[in-house]
Amino acid sequence: MKIPLKIKLANLPTPLQKISFRGNQFLIKRDDLSGSELSGNKVRKLEYLLYEAKREKADIVFTCGGDQSNHSRATVIAAANVGLRTRLFLWGKPKKIPDGNNFIYNYLGAETVYLNKQQYKDVNEIMFGEKLRLEKKGKRVYVIPEGGSTTLGILGYVDFISELNNQFDLTKINGIVCAAGSGGTAAGILAGISLLNLNVKVYAVNVLYPENVIRKKTLQLAEGCILDFNLNCKIKEENLIVLSGYSTEGYKKIRLKKLNLIKEFALETGIILDPAYTGKAFAAYQENFLRKNSGLKNIFIHTGGLMGVFGRRREYLSI
Ligand SMILES: Cc1ncc(COP(=O)(O)O)c(C=O)c1O
Repeated sequence: MKIPLKIKLANLPTPLQKISFRGNQFLIKRDDLSGSELSGNKVRKLEYLLYEAKREKADIVFTCGGDQSNHSRATVIAAANVGLRTRLFLWGKPKKIPDGNNFIYNYLGAETVYLNKQQYKDVNEIMFGEKLRLEKKGKRVYVIPEGGSTTLGILGYVDFISELNNQFDLTKINGIVCAAGSGGTAAGILAGISLLNLNVKVYAVNVLYPENVIRKKTLQLAEGCILDFNLNCKIKEENLIVLSGYSTEGYKKIRLKKLNLIKEFALETGIILDPAYTGKAFAAYQENFLRKNSGLKNIFIHTGGLMGVFGRRREYLSI
């Protein structure tokens, strides 16, 4: 194994809590508590990525996401933490009064480039094209692809499995459930499970890409990570299960039924789920595990996203 170094940015370990909802107990791993401004899953990936950016002596970091991107917000904060500027390539339109994550990146003075849905399909070409242009002027640019999901970034979620295994004997667990956007979190977990030779399923709730696409991306990332860092293990493809059908309304929308579930969950537990990721992942968790009272055998990861809630206050207040 040749694991690279990382910077310490996150408050780790995040708590593993046993709580109950609708009378059923379950285990929830609170990665939403990994930080304050830096809260959520992205900071684990950024610890590796920004170490590399600094090692490469970058002047500026490029990354991308939706206009309410948790990943972009975490990158802007983490980059500021290590003295780097950020340019964001965002899918959407600028708002008159920025809110939620968008408020934070504007507040911190990140450069923003807005792209429409069609343009955003080529966001990697756009970012790398701009990198080339700046490099001709003597600047050094470090590009972080969507969600920080590179084979390097997802090492953060390989480490997550060791952390979780120290908190709870994972041989007693059947599965781990998380939201899947770019697939990096699920991929890191899958690699982490293989590395510890655990018989645990990874349930990825796809909110952005179709089932076949996210499955391929996740497996490729996990296998790439094992190869790049010489991890002594092999992925079992059957350990990855995509729980599809929980974001059929679209990535930027959320159905009333899920808003009601989020509200009920908040009232009963004091924990707030976000509209794009954890609200949808929890709907899948409730239907497939909690309702069947198997929440103590299947851990739900709260991957963060609180700031995204502020950008959607109208929907949250509508119920
Ligand atoms: C709150 C939250 N949960 C889950 C995810 C999904 O993580 P990944 O992109 O690694 O699949 C994201 C990605 O942006 C996120 O912001």
